[in-house]
Amino acid sequence: MPFPPYHDPEVFLREQALCRNLGYLAHQLSAPAPGDCFPLDARDYAQLLVNDAGTYRRVSNICRHRQARILTEPANGKKLICPLHRWSYALDGTLLKAPQFDSCPDRSLEAAETTDWHGLRFDREPPEFDLESVDCDGRLSFTGMRYHSSSHTDYAFHWRHFLEIYLENYHVTPMHPGLTRFIDPNALEWELHPTCSIQKVGFSRKLKPDAGSREIYDRLAAALMKLSGGELPRYATLWTLFYPNLMIESYPYIRVISTVWPITPNRCRNSVEIFFDQSAHETHPEYFELFEEAYFETAAEDEAACQMLHEGRRTLETSGGFDDTLYAPLLEDGVRAFNEYLSEALNTRREQGNK
Ligand code: FES
Ligand SMILES: [Fe+2]
Repeated sequence: MPFPPYHDPEVFLREQALCRNLGYLAHQLSAPAPGDCFPLDARDYAQLLVNDAGTYRRVSNICRHRQARILTEPANGKKLICPLHRWSYALDGTLLKAPQFDSCPDRSLEAAETTDWHGLRFDREPPEFDLESVDCDGRLSFTGMRYHSSSHTDYAFHWRHFLEIYLENYHVTPMHPGLTRFIDPNALEWELHPTCSIQKVGFSRKLKPDAGSREIYDRLAAALMKLSGGELPRYATLWTLFYPNLMIESYPYIRVISTVWPITPNRCRNSVEIFFDQSAHETHPEYFELFEEAYFETAAEDEAACQMLHEGRRTLETSGGFDDTLYAPLLEDGVRAFNEYLSEALNTRREQGNK
């Protein structure tokens, strides 16, 4: 199967379509109470996840009067009210009132039912994979978790580089001196399935829990030991990818859901939702503060790694060159599996497009 190039406009359109096809919206923990309306980062805030008395819908966030964005922040209420001229909508999108109009125009917000997959909400069929079947001590469960925050980062590289770095541990020792104080990149187990990969990583054997250390990961280890009563879980991290672009990461007492979006061949966006174990967060908030600091330190190092791949491949491709990838045994199994999936998926899309 030919490897798809990174800077071919026609291939790139197929990549965007493939990523949109997954249909992930948000975890329902982002709108836990009846009346909660949550603007969707992964949809550029053009849509909301709305909890209408326990029914979760995807509702347009663009007013039917003069197309203003309605909500910029999460909100709770019995109605959606556009701040600009106060058109009001029911939570199912039905227009209720248009002030000054003699009669209410027939203009509702576009709305759609959603599907549930372990609390993650989709506007299509969810992934065909039973998360409960993964042997990981329940570490992919969201039970007891509470939504903490969401954010996104725009990057100046091709979206596939984000995943190619996410899916391998070969770069961890050279690129993440801090993280390797916490995890052992060689203590790695893979589950490679047709629709996803699961990367299970153990703790560093040189773990140095030290609350007074200058190293963030030593302080994080100390806080984790305190929180867990000295009993470390089997895995430090689980990094899963549901092809093509939905990641669920598990750290002790923490879950992170990310979706990476192709914007142009030279730009992508990563949307991140963070969830904390509710009771652990109440008793040991310091662990979670340290986690956020450590997580974003590692993310900055990954950005540098992605940028290296991007620049090398961009210059090679634009000069008409080509070189093959060699995969390191075990440590790069995930990126090899993803690239095989992608080659097939993009070729299938081309064949469908040609019919
Ligand atoms: S644009 Fe929303 S009410 Fe006018
Ligand atoms: Fe990394």
